[in-house]
Amino acid sequence: MERTLVKDTVSKVDQEILLKGWVASIRDHGKITFIDLRDRSGIVQCVGQNLPKVTPESVIEIKGKVAKRPGKLVNKDLETGEIELQINELKVISLSKELPLPIDTDGYEIGEETRLKYRYLDIRRPRMTRNLRVRSKAAMFIRNWLIERDFVEVETPILTKTTPEGARDFLVPSRLQLGKFYALPQSPQQYKQLLMVAGLERYFQIARCFRDEDPRADRAYGEFTQLDLEMSFVEQEDILQLAESLFIELVEKIFSDKHITQKPWPRLSHKEVVEKYGTDKPDLRKDKNDPNELAFAWTLDFPLFTEQSDKDFFYGSGKAKFAPSHHMFTAPHPDDVSLLDSDPTKVRGLQHDMVLNGFEVGGGSIRIHDAGVQQKVFDLIGFSEEQKHQFEHMLTAFTYGVPPHGGIAPGIDRFIMTVLGEPSVREAMAFPATAGGATAVVNAPSEATEEQLEELGIKITKKEK
Ligand code: AMO
Repeated sequence: MERTLVKDTVSKVDQEILLKGWVASIRDHGKITFIDLRDRSGIVQCVGQNLPKVTPESVIEIKGKVAKRPGKLVNKDLETGEIELQINELKVISLSKELPLPIDTDGYEIGEETRLKYRYLDIRRPRMTRNLRVRSKAAMFIRNWLIERDFVEVETPILTKTTPEGARDFLVPSRLQLGKFYALPQSPQQYKQLLMVAGLERYFQIARCFRDEDPRADRAYGEFTQLDLEMSFVEQEDILQLAESLFIELVEKIFSDKHITQKPWPRLSHKEVVEKYGTDKPDLRKDKNDPNELAFAWTLDFPLFTEQSDKDFFYGSGKAKFAPSHHMFTAPHPDDVSLLDSDPTKVRGLQHDMVLNGFEVGGGSIRIHDAGVQQKVFDLIGFSEEQKHQFEHMLTAFTYGVPPHGGIAPGIDRFIMTVLGEPSVREAMAFPATAGGATAVVNAPSEATEEQLEELGIKITKKEK
């Protein structure tokens, strides 16, 4: 007999069917037992007598007949509440032990360490299942939307060279070139610019990014996902319009219970927004108690550089006064280029941040496509000759016909978190790392064997207790 999905049971009244799934709950009423069976499509009540021993969350198969419930027993809260399955045969496929955490609640009350240790159970809770499904739908919508508009999806390397976005790199030792390391990309920034030199003109990627930085509610530790995109022969206006249309249509299609506060989205200059709200990512919702309100905005005209003190230096030699506000490939505003020499702090950058309900959900810019200006920015952020050498491929590429280009990268996890009103990005990810940097379930990082270390020419001198 072919398997029927729970959602299809309502259309099979009086038919014999086979269901497969998990035991969501058991109610033993002496002679008769009620079992709620759950599969990927929903939950249905099954009822029978003299059933084999079964525990909650076991995997079972049930053969039985679909029967209409009498009027007063209809359960309006359940999509299949008008029917029940009268069990003829129940087969236990895999018995479940008692779960280490409840999954019939929304889960916020449970410690995150426990939830992540048993993430495969945590995901069984309806809220998490919904989040992953909605995320998948959003990603699919984005892909189709961009491909219809002549974008090309390209995968870029994970084992690569540093692409600084302001965090620490993850390093991977090379076996073939002892003593050398790959860096995992903090974003595909350089590759997408190289793809513009390559003539693709319109690139996107639902890309994994790796950053070794302290986690926060809106910041995952280790890795997260961006919708990374880049376009040639465009101005900032084209990028803003494209991203705005994409996200408006995405919300209308996939999150149709949400409403957008203002369309077109308000555009705020960095100076104005910081003066008025004390932040560059203001929460512009009219009613902050409304879970369905989405207040998008653009923050523009950021200063190209922020001043940095010795203690927070990250880029450059450590002696430079300036760090890029966004990253070192962001172009200065054309009216301000001459200020690069006289007063760099006054230079505005062609950066754009996409803001949603008080979160920065995306960032991007028009890029420098002039090797001379790029050199100047490297100097201002204090790059040594050796550091400049690390980015020589960009300067070289720019000598072979580079189109003016720019792009943006909205964070997928952060966007889903914000739209769903979740308290952390981790609620939008299947297997996020814990705050302490351990990966969900498999608990990486772990120690390497002596043989592995030997092969890589690595000696551990200090071990954490
Ligand atoms: P940026 O560093 O601003 O830009 O990142 C873009 C977006 O990525 C998301 N994001 C994160 N989400 C979850 N966890 C994190 N740790 C995390 N860090 C960043 C945010 C952020 O707005 N290459 C440029 C983009 C460009 O210039 O086109 C970049 O990565 O939503």
